[in-house]
Amino acid sequence: MIFCFSGTGNTRWAAQHLAEATGERLALMSGEDTRYTLAEDERIGFCFPVHGWQPPRLVRNFIRRLTFSSEKPLTSHYCYALVTCGDSIGLTMEMLDGELAKKGLRTHSSFSLVMPESYVCLPFMYTDTPQREKEKIEQATQDLNTYTRLITERRKNEHHTKRGFMPWVLSHVIGAYFNSRMISDRKFTVDTANCIHCGLCAKVCPTRDIRMTGNDDGASTPEWLHDGRCTCCLSCYHHCPRHAINYGSITRRRGQYYFGHPQ
Ligand SMILES: Cc1cc2nc3c(=O)[nH]c(=O)nc-3n(C[C@H](O)[C@H](O)[C@H](O)COP(=O)(O)O)c2cc1C
Repeated sequence: MIFCFSGTGNTRWAAQHLAEATGERLALMSGEDTRYTLAEDERIGFCFPVHGWQPPRLVRNFIRRLTFSSEKPLTSHYCYALVTCGDSIGLTMEMLDGELAKKGLRTHSSFSLVMPESYVCLPFMYTDTPQREKEKIEQATQDLNTYTRLITERRKNEHHTKRGFMPWVLSHVIGAYFNSRMISDRKFTVDTANCIHCGLCAKVCPTRDIRMTGNDDGASTPEWLHDGRCTCCLSCYHHCPRHAINYGSITRRRGQYYFGHPQ
């Protein structure tokens, strides 16, 4: 069983690779289902992007609601986490283990992949150059092959993560501020002159936080629901074919990215 959340596709790519290699099921953490029956010896994997050096709020909420039924004790199932980031993960794995402990679970091994950057909503944050994107994906492909072998062999105490400089500060100070103050759909805007009413933003939103609503001339434009579901993955921003979606005004001059996008 592989639990996966992904906004711009980096983590989905890695989780799909693992699912193919292990022959195990993929379940979306953004879905409604939270009750799972485990087969004997089934692995339990958690795959998600790092948001503000922490597990995204959606991931924590999902784990809090998660229940398993299994013939064997939960701790006898091999459990691992594989996260993706643009640069570093801080104490994401420790925080994940804190959530899993409340379920009587802990990860036996943990892995991180450095992948193209998706966060662009602060003055110093940009998408990677095409060259850097290519280099990151090449390296991530090699790392993923190594991690897949370790996971397939159920290797324990393998911790291959990039925590960055002063990980405690990253996760508990900067990340804590970031996650409590900056994860909101209130700053999304749509440039109605540029919007082609294709509805792709609503389709790719993993939390179904966007409704297409009609305007006077019958065309529909995106509207964010402001109901606390948005986890700010920026999937809507990055997938818009006309760059008509923005987060505040800063992203007007930023690039767009999703895994597999045309260069
Ligand atoms: C809201 C948000 C916060 C992010 N925070 C971090 C971070 O703290 N450290 C980091 O290295 N990358 C960070 N990133 C970049 C993503 O973790 C990275 O691009 C990831 O691979 C995206 O995965 P996805 O395509 O599956 O959504 C952040 C991205 C978003 C959207």
